[in-house]
Amino acid sequence: MGASDRSGPEFADHRDGEHSFDALLAADERIEPRDQMPDGYRRGLVRQMAQHAHSEIIGMQPEANWITRAPSLRRKAILMAKVQDEAGHGLYLYAAAETLGVSRADLLDQLHAGTQKYSSIFNYPTLTWADVGAIGWLVDGAAITNQVPLCRCSYGPYARAMVRICKEESFHQRQGFDLLLTLTRGTPRQREMSQDAVDRWWYPSLAMFGPPDGRSTHGEQSARWGIKRFSNDELRQRFVDMTVPQAAVLGVTIPDPQLRWNPERGHHDFTEPDYDELFRVISGAGPCNRQRMEHRRRAHDEGAWVREAALAYAARQSETAVSAAAAGDARRGSAA
Ligand SMILES: [Fe+2]
Ligand SMILES: [Fe+2]
Repeated sequence: MGASDRSGPEFADHRDGEHSFDALLAADERIEPRDQMPDGYRRGLVRQMAQHAHSEIIGMQPEANWITRAPSLRRKAILMAKVQDEAGHGLYLYAAAETLGVSRADLLDQLHAGTQKYSSIFNYPTLTWADVGAIGWLVDGAAITNQVPLCRCSYGPYARAMVRICKEESFHQRQGFDLLLTLTRGTPRQREMSQDAVDRWWYPSLAMFGPPDGRSTHGEQSARWGIKRFSNDELRQRFVDMTVPQAAVLGVTIPDPQLRWNPERGHHDFTEPDYDELFRVISGAGPCNRQRMEHRRRAHDEGAWVREAALAYAARQSETAVSAAAAGDARRGSAA
């Protein structure tokens, strides 16, 4: 049995709780919410998990934009399922972050106030139907590359949430590939539209892995704490190597004249994305930053009645449960 097999809830339940944080990390075992952990570890995880959760729900917007214009009922159903999956991913991640002592409401407030970030990729517009395919293939593809190693990250609730998320992400990536394949086998106009979408999404997808290792602020500490298993540049390279043969099957050209197989390295050489653009978009100057945040705040305000109704219902349910328990006690008392 590998270390990762011992990370399930059964194992957590039987552990004596006396292991120190460092001993758990050294043994490649999972840290659980009740374990002692350094403040920096907790804060870093909250930051990363919140940013991840925010990205899932903001990421619903660019594609939801195409639900009403999907070209067939089948494509509409698939796209709706995908967008709903992203809402679910946000939910798993907010719930996992709550095990660290923060509240989902507070995290959402921080997103709305702009004090927590989301992935800069969602600040680019979706101009044509082919963008839905390019997002699934490239953006979800990059997300999987980033997220599969997180299934083994040191914090148990995050690792377990990622297992389920990754299964769904791989469906997302395949639906994007399938959509693009249909278009690239279609009319010349459809092929042109696919190529245009790939041209626009390629470099932003490469930028999803974050700044190069030399400019990454959280990388080293994250690696020491077993949160990040591979560096930004390693993951970016893995994504390029995985995607190049898929582009050949699709018959689209990756918009990088420097892209070629390097037999000495055993990897593809490629042009790095424009990291200055990445930093501009992160700091709010992307094409859609304002639109995404305005939409998010409006959706949150318009959903206030749903949250109130859910809380009122939950309160009623627990009142009913308490009075049923009291009635049960009274009956048992009189029977005695
Ligand atoms: Fe997702
Ligand atoms: Fe996804």
